[in-house]
Formats: sequence, structure tokens, C-alpha cells
Amino acid sequence: MKIKKDVIVIGAGAAGMMCAIEAGKRGRSVMLLDHASKLAEKIRISGGGRCNFTNRHTRPENFRSHNPHFCRSALARFTPQNFVMLVEKHGIHYHEKKLGQLFCDGSSQQIIDLLRQECDAAGVEWQIPCRVNNTSRIHAGIAPGGRFLLETDRGILTADSLVIATGGLSIPQIGASPFGYHVARQFGIAVTPLRPALVPLTLSLDQLATIAGLPGVAIDAAVSCNGACFRENLLFTHRGLSGPAILQVSSYWQPGVTIHVDLLPDLDAAWLLDHRHSPGLLSNLIMQYLPRRFAQAWCDDIMPGQSARPINQYSEAGLKQIAAQLHDWQIMPSGTAGYKKAEVTLGGVDTRELSSKTMEARKIPGLYFIGEVVDVTGHLGGFNFQWAWSSGYAAGQFV
Ligand code: FDA
Repeated sequence: MKIKKDVIVIGAGAAGMMCAIEAGKRGRSVMLLDHASKLAEKIRISGGGRCNFTNRHTRPENFRSHNPHFCRSALARFTPQNFVMLVEKHGIHYHEKKLGQLFCDGSSQQIIDLLRQECDAAGVEWQIPCRVNNTSRIHAGIAPGGRFLLETDRGILTADSLVIATGGLSIPQIGASPFGYHVARQFGIAVTPLRPALVPLTLSLDQLATIAGLPGVAIDAAVSCNGACFRENLLFTHRGLSGPAILQVSSYWQPGVTIHVDLLPDLDAAWLLDHRHSPGLLSNLIMQYLPRRFAQAWCDDIMPGQSARPINQYSEAGLKQIAAQLHDWQIMPSGTAGYKKAEVTLGGVDTRELSSKTMEARKIPGLYFIGEVVDVTGHLGGFNFQWAWSSGYAAGQFV
């Protein structure tokens, strides 16, 4: 079987479907293919099953990239409001959970159905599951006529435009693959270093011993790393640290780097501890402001064997030092929980290789990269889907 299309999109996730819809609406013949047998699994599991489909406050500053300006153009041309209009057109009820994060009231399946219906209305054809063969070697080459040629388990496919929307490496068990990065390298397009992001951080066995008994405890903290600071919950787990504040800073963390935790971001710890004449225990005082179990473990950790001392036995300088540590508890994670637990991949196809207007590769006309496979990584909170919609929309106008 040999099929000829104007556009082939590889990867029927958020970005790929959005691009296919837009290209189809322009009258292009579009084929969307994916190796997974279930459509858009990442959307289905997103947002705890309710899909945090965008963030009202999306700004370029919410994204990490070697070129922080690259995302500007696409985000300006397809905004969160544009996606909200689509959601409303399909009668999907939604709510803002916090900080501009919009979730479905029902389930994330509603977003998948929306995209599927829009694809059908735009005349998009599907090949699912469809495997592009020989993924470790050249599987898409420029045919003599300048068209792209793909050998798949459904036959030979050719197209004028080839869109790579195969996402990142996170959650390989539901279809993530390095395909997009391989295609980029195969065509001589640079890929920036990749690493798991929006991911829990792990601690060494020694550190885990100090937080034994804390898994499940959450604290509202300001967590910073490498110049970025996030005020949200920090959660203790059996392997280390998680919760939104940790997931956010994980995108800025690198091995060997310390993270800084302000445990009392709204309070002046020096003022709180200014009880120099009190016979009460210091740990009891700290427990008034932090979860009991955590306060005890923290005191034991920073004052080994002394946390049961009354406050009036501490010097003024000693109390000041403890206050400073409450505002700057330093932790050196041992690693991350890896792609199995990461929400996204940091890094990707180098944005210097792509047009920020069209997402087309500068040196390979007709080849486009969109969504997470590109070196644009959003913060937690609906930004990654917004990038998928915006970059998919941008490419969809030109493929
Ligand atoms: P996406 O991963 O969605 O799609 C890529 C597609 O390509 C997949 O269907 C895959 O099967 C296919 N593919 C891969 N390799 C292939 C190959 N070799 N051949 C053919 N097909 C191939 N973001 C957000 O904004 N809000 C949220 O609530 C969440 N929640 C969330 C939860 C969890 C658990 C995870 C793991 C991630 C999130 N995210 C998120 C991130 C978000 O899911 C992600 O950034 C987008 O899905 C990226 O969209 P893409 O279309 O680029 O890739």
C-alpha cells in the first residue's frame, strides 16, 4: 500500500491533533499516525484525570528553553482564551482550581473527544496503531520528488510536510519514545540535553532516615533552586520529596545543586523565636507553626540531641541561627525519580533550528517539530498543554 498526503503528523497527542485540525481546516489532506493503540493517553492521565488543559495566566516566563523568547510568537497567536473557546464550543464544563489552572469538571476524556471530533470535522485521517519501522535507523527520508517518505507497518506513506509531534520521554509505559529526537538528529538538527522535569526528587539513605515517619506530610513552603522560586506545597514521600513546589524546582535542579526551603515564608522566624526567657521547649514552639511530626524531625536534624532543650538555654545568636535555618533549610537531593515519574522532558529540538512562527526546521523545508519534543518546557499548571496547542496551531497554518 502506498498513500500520498499533503501532511503527515507523527504523534496523535495534544500538539499533533491540534496541528492536524488546523491543517485539515485549510483543506490540506492530513494523516495522523501514532504507534499507541489507545489515543492520547497522556491527556487521559493528565491533571489527575481531569486534564489541567491550560493556564489563564500563561506568559513566556512560564517556560524554560535555551531561547526563552522562542515561545512568544506561538503563544500570542493561540492563547489560553482560544482554547477555552474551543472547550466552551464543545459544552465542556470547567473550573479554575488555583493560580489560573483550568481543569475539566468531568474527565480528561472530554478533551480527547473534543480533539477527535475536531479532527473528524477537519477531514483528518488516522493510522492508529501505526509503527514507523526501523526507528533506530533512517525511517523518514526525503524522496527524489522532495517529499517525505515513511516506511510503516501500514505501508509506504509520502507527504509534502512531515510534522513530528511525538512528545518527550516521560512515562514510557504509555507510549513515550525518543523517536522525535532521532528524526531531528537524522536530519542534522541539534537536540539540547534532555532530562526529566516536573519530577519528584530523591534523597540519600541518610537523608531518608531523617525524614522517616514523614511520608504523606505536606508543608506550605517557598522552595528555590538556581534562581527560581515557587511557593506551593512540599510533600514528603518514601523516596524523597514531591508536591507542586518540588516538581516546579525540579526543572531548575541539576545533580550537585542544593535546594533552599523557606519553611515559614509569611513569617519572621527571628521574631517568633524571640522567647529567650521562656522555659518551653524550642521544638514545641516551632510546632505551633509547622506540622508537628515535621517540626520534631527538623529540630532533631538541625540540633542533634538538643531539640528537647528549653528555649532559655539557647543563646541569642543560637536562636538567630535557628531562625535563619527555618527560612533557608538546605537540601541536596541525590537525584530525580526519572522519566517513569516525570511529567515532562526538559530540553529537546534546539529552537535555533526552528522558525518560531511556523515551527519549520530552517535547514529542512517541510519538516516541522511541535509540542514537548521541542526545547520549550512549561512550569506545572497547564502550561505544557498550552504550548502543545499553541505550537500545534502555529504549524497547522503553514504545513
Ligand atoms: P504527547 O506525549 O501528548 O503525545 C505524543 C504522541 O506521540 C503520543 O500519543 C505517543 O504515543 C506518540 N508517539 C511517541 N513515539 C512515537 C513513535 N515512535 N511513533 C508514533 N507515535 C509515537 N500538562 C499540562 O499542561 N497539564 C496537565 O494537567 C498535565 N498533566 C500531566 C500528567 C502526567 C502524569 C504527565 C506524564 C504529563 C502531564 N502533563 C500535563 C504534560 C503534558 O501531558 C505534555 O506536556 C503534553 O502531552 C505534550 O503534548 P505532545 O503532543 O507534545 O506529546
